Amino acid sequence: MNILITGGAGFIGSHIVRRLVTHYPAYQIINLDLLTYAGNLENLKDVDQSPNYTFVKGDIGDESLLDEIFTKHNITHVVHLAAESHVDRSIKDPLVFIKTNVLGTANLLQVAKKHWQENYEGKLFYQVSTDEVYGSLNMGFDLFTEKTAYDPRSPYSASKASADHFVRAFYHTYHMPVVISNCSNNYGPNHFPEKLIPLFIHNIIQKKSLPVYGKGENIRDWLYVEDHARAIDCILHKGQPGETYNIGGHNEWTNIDLIKLLCDIMDRKLGRSAGESRELITYVTDRAGHDLRYAIDATKMEVELDWLPVETFETGIEKTIDWYLNNKEWLDHVTSGSYQEYYSKMYH
Ligand code: NAD
Ligand code: DAU
Repeated sequence: MNILITGGAGFIGSHIVRRLVTHYPAYQIINLDLLTYAGNLENLKDVDQSPNYTFVKGDIGDESLLDEIFTKHNITHVVHLAAESHVDRSIKDPLVFIKTNVLGTANLLQVAKKHWQENYEGKLFYQVSTDEVYGSLNMGFDLFTEKTAYDPRSPYSASKASADHFVRAFYHTYHMPVVISNCSNNYGPNHFPEKLIPLFIHNIIQKKSLPVYGKGENIRDWLYVEDHARAIDCILHKGQPGETYNIGGHNEWTNIDLIKLLCDIMDRKLGRSAGESRELITYVTDRAGHDLRYAIDATKMEVELDWLPVETFETGIEKTIDWYLNNKEWLDHVTSGSYQEYYSKMYH
């Protein structure tokens, strides 16, 4: 396989790149990433000298660059993660989400079609998507399945839903082999500290306030990022063209319970007195249109592809906190902005 991974310098993308580069030395892995604020090549410093790895800085919206990559590397598979990914940013500035997530995906599909349409044999376009396209669940036991109708409610989820629809349209109209996976909230190392878990770990270390949106009663279903990377590996190799796979850990938490747990573990690890970090919790104005609950039914992944998460939440959250405590330099570079210099040091 000659695999084009887009967005490989981001949080989840870096775990996929590492997994594929190290597990499959015979594959060529080409990582195309624009290095927006969310792209960080320090996430990949342990693998960036591997002989089967190539980094290209660029935009998924750049047709001639994509043409060049497809030709030069004879791309057989695309694993598409590049996106604007933060809901709060999408509320402030939806247009960049449309540009990257919708137009960028459509551009990538067009170029893949151009290069593959003579012979789709052995080709695959893999769209990495989110459970947020399904909308919001009420409190209770309902779960999102692959048959749940799309009902996106934030500019972010609307842009991802639109991209997914284009991917399916290319399957039905042009017979391009595609797969889509829709995953729940990820957590783990290399997560940019604008998202709940890494932001709150950072703020607890710094003794800064912990801004809980609304009453903290919203529910998210958390999955350790390496379990997501294993699921993507599994779908890449065993997924059926035209199919959708939901990925999740059956691990629902209200935000406030999760935040209290984080505070208590951090107090223990930092040698602070019990309850000290909970004092930092501050209730703030709710996110506009805040989805109440997400929860994934991952039965299809288990039954058809033999995938189950390995990490429990207890082990995953401990690992994650330990990673942030042991990688203060990564956090310092991200918060100071100096992580963006890594590209010029490495590639010029
Ligand atoms: P991220 O924001 O950490 O990383 C996104 C990456 O895409 C960055 O490296 C960025 O530089 C790159 N990028 C942005 N615009 C680009 C462009 N125009 N051209 C090339 N590269 C560009 O995101 P993440 O959390 O790792 O999410 C990755 C993918 O997984 C996204 O598609 C997201 O929708 C999806 N997803 C995320 C989660 C989650 O919990 N984080 C869950 C399910 C699905
Ligand atoms: O469900 C998958 C999605 O999970 C991905 O598609 C997105 O890319 C990813 O960002 C994530 O979206 P969320 O909006 O669920 O994640 P976030 O970490 O931003 O917020 C998690 C919950 O915590 C949500 O209910 C909002 C709340 N929150 C978040 C922040 C940043 C707070 O209460 N305070 C905060 O400061």
